[in-house]
Amino acid sequence: QSNGLALTPPMGWNSWNKFGCDINESVIRAAADAMVSSGMKGAGYQYVVIDDCWHGERDLNGDIQADPKRFPSGIKALADYIHGKGLKFGIYSDAGKKTCAGRPGSRGYEYQDARQYAAWGVDYLKYDWCSTYSQDAKSTYETMSDALRASGRPIVFSLCEWGQNKPWLWGETIGNLWRMSGDIYDGWESREGRENGMTNILDMQQGLEGYAGPGHWNDPDMLEVGNGGMTFEEYKSHFSLWAVLAAPLMAGNDLARMSEETKSILTNKEIIAVDQDALGVQGHRIAKNGDDEVWAKPLQGGGRAIVLFNRGKETHKIGVTWETLGYPAALGLSVRDLWSHKNLSKAKGSFAADVPPHGVVMIRVEA
Ligand code: DGJ
Repeated sequence: QSNGLALTPPMGWNSWNKFGCDINESVIRAAADAMVSSGMKGAGYQYVVIDDCWHGERDLNGDIQADPKRFPSGIKALADYIHGKGLKFGIYSDAGKKTCAGRPGSRGYEYQDARQYAAWGVDYLKYDWCSTYSQDAKSTYETMSDALRASGRPIVFSLCEWGQNKPWLWGETIGNLWRMSGDIYDGWESREGRENGMTNILDMQQGLEGYAGPGHWNDPDMLEVGNGGMTFEEYKSHFSLWAVLAAPLMAGNDLARMSEETKSILTNKEIIAVDQDALGVQGHRIAKNGDDEVWAKPLQGGGRAIVLFNRGKETHKIGVTWETLGYPAALGLSVRDLWSHKNLSKAKGSFAADVPPHGVVMIRVEA
């Protein structure tokens, strides 16, 4: 996108994964409050995004209104409240006539809605793909992208067409991020009726790394950390892998009621720094041997972030050689553990560690 935004993957919170349609202005305000008081803001989270179900009807001029029962103070007041906390405000619409939850979509109202969002102080728009029938994805998203630009307000544009039309091939000049899969499910892997467990989306990212970069990111969907469907180790894996993927980090849990464990994952600054690295390269899997995998992400300054990932049910020793990372075999590299926050001894040629079941060891190596 030429809007100059999202030069690193956007970070924030979105209402959908935890609250679904069950939202109102106090839920959103509480999330903004907690984003500050929990230390999430300090760790880099910025956008508070309302997903589906905030809408009421269009008025006689066709202007979209908030649901008067759920958002009696209106969207402008909510945006002001969020801005008052030093945060940014995001909203949701749909490229068809109706959103997935049946609220009014933006089809035919793109410029009018973009102007309204700008007037409200919207900083981020997630744009869904329900009830779009035979609409062409690229030109549909282009229309809203143009409308946002014409609004005169810098607005991050998040494409949500679930990877159906390979948005990575055409999204770079249209959006700042694009979903490349269907909805994430709060579980380790797919099961009946739930296609996209955490590891399934991870697998779909392999091969897409070349399409991401500053201002335009693959979006493997929002975080499920803290929502209860995975274990502590599994959520650490989820967060580590999303960081190596340079994924947008949109928390999807109840920030006002999160456990210390959940907070310790979401606010791990060393892992966030990997995600937010200025080089903006998406990592990928560089080795796989059964359940044992190595994921690596090049960092600014020549270092690498490495996730040793164990998909198995027993602890495995997983190793990585400097050669597979593209370094001279005999180079001495410093190794830092990003979960224990400790410098390990300087390693020559390779590194290996015991990785717990469904877990990771995440390190940063530097010359
Ligand atoms: C489908 C999207 O993929 C989800 O993230 C969420 O926005 C829902 N629609 C809302 O209806």
